Amino acid sequence: MPQSAPKKTPAKPAPQQDAIALLKADHRAVEELFQKYESARSSAQKQSLAKKICTELVIHTMIEEEIFYPALRGEIEADTLDEAYVEHDGAKVMIAELIAGGPDDDFYDAKVKVLSEEIKHHVHEEEMREEGMFAQARRTDLDLDALGEQMVARKQELLAEFKDRPPTPVATTLRTSPNHAETHP
Ligand SMILES: [Fe+2]
Ligand SMILES: [Fe+2]
Repeated sequence: MPQSAPKKTPAKPAPQQDAIALLKADHRAVEELFQKYESARSSAQKQSLAKKICTELVIHTMIEEEIFYPALRGEIEADTLDEAYVEHDGAKVMIAELIAGGPDDDFYDAKVKVLSEEIKHHVHEEEMREEGMFAQARRTDLDLDALGEQMVARKQELLAEFKDRPPTPVATTLRTSPNHAETHP
């Protein structure tokens, strides 16, 4: 069979993902992990999936809170952003529970389920048409490609840093959290 001519495209084409495409891909990935957890039977499988879910979610909320949400401040509805931070913190409480416990604990499966419902609601708020956060962001003139690049780089850094254990989530808005960051968006 004849060899095809070498292509002129660069060796590393690095598919460009804008900020919103990146975040949506994360949402789909975590939804799949939650589905796998539902059908997992062994404690070892559940443990490994819960660890992946927590790692994905904490890193996702970090890149949103460090880069994406601050970029949107002043550009979209303030309530949309404020509610998103508070929803993140609600999820962080449950994530911290999951990190501290294990699938053989009472209520563990219930906590995973409730977390998945909280995330489903939050993702809907981000992705819904017209009034959703992402739809509002698309109507601004922010450079979503540049933001996406920044977020991919930060995500890679965090994934490398936390490849062995999920990061401890830090609440941004909860006064009662021992991890309260003392910074406000
Ligand atoms: Fe998100
Ligand atoms: Fe979010």
